[in-house]
Amino acid sequence: MELLKQIAISIETELESKLTVKEIQMLLEKPKNIELGDLAFPCFTLAKLYKKSPQLIASELAKQVKSSLIANVEAVGGYLNIFYDQKTIAKEVLGEILKNQNNYGQLPMKDEQVTIDLSSPNIAKPFSMGHLRSTVIGNALANISEKNGYKAVRINHLGDWGTQFGKLIVAYKLWGDKEKIEASPIEELLKIYVKFHEKAEVDEELNVEARAAFKSLEQGNEEALQLWKWFKEASLKEFQYIYELLGIQFDSFNGEAFYNDKMETVVKEIEEKGLLVESDGALVVELENMPPCLIKKTDGATLYATRDLAAALYRQNNYAFTKAFYVVGNEQSLHFKQLFSVLQKMGYAWAKDCQHVPFGMMLKDGKKMSTRKGKVILLKEVLNEAIEEAKKSIEEKNPSLLHKEEVAKSVGVGAVIFHDLKNHRMNDVEFSLEQMLNFEGETGPYVQYTHARINSLLQKGKFETNNMSFAGLGEPAWPTIMTLQGFPQVIQKSFEHADPSLIAKYCLTLSRHFNKYYANTKILVGDETKRSKLTLCYAVAIVLKEGLSLLGIDAPEQM
Ligand code: ARG
Repeated sequence: MELLKQIAISIETELESKLTVKEIQMLLEKPKNIELGDLAFPCFTLAKLYKKSPQLIASELAKQVKSSLIANVEAVGGYLNIFYDQKTIAKEVLGEILKNQNNYGQLPMKDEQVTIDLSSPNIAKPFSMGHLRSTVIGNALANISEKNGYKAVRINHLGDWGTQFGKLIVAYKLWGDKEKIEASPIEELLKIYVKFHEKAEVDEELNVEARAAFKSLEQGNEEALQLWKWFKEASLKEFQYIYELLGIQFDSFNGEAFYNDKMETVVKEIEEKGLLVESDGALVVELENMPPCLIKKTDGATLYATRDLAAALYRQNNYAFTKAFYVVGNEQSLHFKQLFSVLQKMGYAWAKDCQHVPFGMMLKDGKKMSTRKGKVILLKEVLNEAIEEAKKSIEEKNPSLLHKEEVAKSVGVGAVIFHDLKNHRMNDVEFSLEQMLNFEGETGPYVQYTHARINSLLQKGKFETNNMSFAGLGEPAWPTIMTLQGFPQVIQKSFEHADPSLIAKYCLTLSRHFNKYYANTKILVGDETKRSKLTLCYAVAIVLKEGLSLLGIDAPEQM
């Protein structure tokens, strides 16, 4: 059981039902100064209930509260200050980690599904840094959902439909070169797409043609459909390369095109519910405090929002989700507000379970990277460069390492992922390979390296899991033990706030505490104490590995 809960229970038994265990747990806080204790229980709420002074209550409680987890209590300034019994807690925490291994912190499975709309790149365009963000944040969120006891459904809502395909078809017919496109599809398709935008700026006729081309695609015109299929298959092949590097798999690739034949019923339903309004020839749903949601254009063509409405209904029908996360850039906030409002107006109570998980931009030298103007760093190149850099650093630091290629891949890719996830997702991320691959700073390789170092320590010390001991872990080990103890709460919080950065930061904190401990403690000496120190190391390795794995990052055994 969670430590805080156990402490709360021991307080609750003395309170004559004035507060519940949960309420006490909420009140418990960390003292500003560690001299004051590990935990403090403020008695001001109770003072009102009992009509006594907070200090009197604190000193009464100080006499009564008893628990094997508590070594000492003091009443100071209306607070009950609690000092943990370090030995008992160490034994309990380490025991739990060793028993559960990578399942430490795992919540019981609930037989409920969470859908995660993630990655969702646009066909025939490069996989942008924004899509990388969606992919890694979304995948971490899916892992975190699973750790919280949900079945996670990873959905890649491909941008494989919409007016841009009209543009591409027109561009291809004007300037396309079949062989070139076959050789490097995304690069060539991007070229003609960029050219289209340049020309269309002075030639409005092109946009008219593009709209017509998309319309004919929507209506199933054979030639248009063939071109579209070809664009899509070629693009997907390139995306797949990136997903393999990242080690990410999807449960569904149902993108926008998948909903082409599912929109009519939705539009009809909206109409039957009296929500469809004509506005300048287009059909819209009017909303409070925000612009109306466009359902059909003047020419009858459907929109991004129409497809998202169909998708939401389809997902609720097929997965009966408890929660539907949409991991999409912050610039689409209005779109999702509109989407969820329309669902609510349609009378779907589950609209409240849909959540946009926005994130900031990826910047290069402080500027946004835009696809349309061709100003984009190709992710494939970024990942490969990161792997190359990792390889170089391995050659320098540990040239005799086994499985160098594999390790370089884990480190390079892990660096890129960690760099993204270590800050709150709403922050913009400045792209810097140098920063990502630092082995010392707040980076993925630093955490991976801490984990690998522990593994070699365990080997050197001939640690055996049946040979564990909890004695002899003194004061220096305490910050590490307390951090280990906090892992389950971090897992729950990161789900509640849809915030993988909490896990990344946790990995950094645990690494830092451990490295400090390691720097000041001789691990491989003493008999009984060596065993308990190695037991602590082993527990840290388990939790670091699991933390990284939640982020979608490998933890190599050696580095
Ligand atoms: N393809 C879109 C884009 O790149 C993102 C799609 C996000 N998912 C969704 N259900 N709308 O902007």
